[in-house]
Amino acid sequence: MSKKPYMRVEGLVKKFGPFTALNGVDLAVHPGEVHALLGDNGAGKSTLIKILAGVHEPTSGRIFVEDQPVQFRSPRDATAAGIGTVYQDLALNQLMSVTRNFFMGRELKGAFGRLMMDEMDRIAHDEMLKIGIDISDPGQAVGTMSGGQRQTLAIARAIHFGAKVLILDEPTSALGQKQQMEVLKTMMRVRARGDIAIIFITHNEIHSKLVGDRFTFLALGQVIGAGTKAELEGEDIRRLMAGGAEIADLEKELEEI
Ligand SMILES: Nc1ncnc2c1ncn2[C@@H]1O[C@H](COP(=O)(O)OP(=O)(O)O)[C@@H](O)[C@H]1O
Ligand SMILES: [Mg+2]
Repeated sequence: MSKKPYMRVEGLVKKFGPFTALNGVDLAVHPGEVHALLGDNGAGKSTLIKILAGVHEPTSGRIFVEDQPVQFRSPRDATAAGIGTVYQDLALNQLMSVTRNFFMGRELKGAFGRLMMDEMDRIAHDEMLKIGIDISDPGQAVGTMSGGQRQTLAIARAIHFGAKVLILDEPTSALGQKQQMEVLKTMMRVRARGDIAIIFITHNEIHSKLVGDRFTFLALGQVIGAGTKAELEGEDIRRLMAGGAEIADLEKELEEI
C-alpha cells in the first residue's frame, strides 16, 4: 500500500456554463487498492470519472499519470494512458457472443484478414477465468449471461486491453444480492493482482466498506472527506455517506418540529 499513486488529480474544476460541477477536487489512486468514490446524486462523481476517462476536459486543474502531467483530449487518449472505464451500461451487445464482445473492434486477425476465433475464444475464456468466472462456451450470446457475469466480462476486457486504472461506475447497483457479491469478489481478485488501481463508485456504504482501501466523499462538487480505511472510523464513513454536515443540520431541524 506504500506504492506511489498510478494517477492523481489536483484541483480539478469543471464548469458547465455558469454551473460548477467540480470545484477543486484532489484524488490519487494506487495500484493494488480499491478507492471508493462516494457521494449523493449530483455530487459530481460521474463528471469526475468522465474527466479521468477523457470524455470531458477539465476547466482547470491537473492530471498526472505516473507523475507526468497529461491532457486527455479524447477517451482514446485516456485508454492509451491505461485508464479503463466500465460504465453502467457496460457497452455490451446482448446479441453478440462473449468473445465478440470481448474484442469488439480489436479482433485478432490472421492471414487474409481471417478472424482467429479459436485464439480469441481462448483469451476471452482465460481472462474471465482469472477474475472468477468459467464461461464454458465463449460463443454464447452475452444476453444469456447473468448481470454479474456481464460485469466480469466488461472488467476482464478492460484489463486485457491494458487498464492500469479500472473505473467502475456503480457496478453493483443494478444487481440482486448474490450477483452483487460476485462483482465484489471479482473486484477483490483484480485488487489481488497488485498492479491495478480500482475506482469504485457506489451508493452502498456496506459495499464500500467491504472492499474499499481508500475513500473519497464528494458533495456538491467538493471533497468533504477522504482517507484510508484506517484513517476513517466507521462513524466517519456513515456521517460522510449522509453528506457530512448536512445531515447534522437536518437532524436538528427535525428535532425542532
Ligand atoms: N453535461 C452537463 N451539462 C450540465 N450540467 C451537468 C452536465 N453533467 C453533469 N451536470 C451537472 O453536474 C452535477 C454533477 O453531476 P454528476 O457528475 O452526474 O453527479 P453524480 O454522478 O455524483 O450523480 C449535477 O448537478 C448535474 O446536473
Ligand atoms: Mg453519476
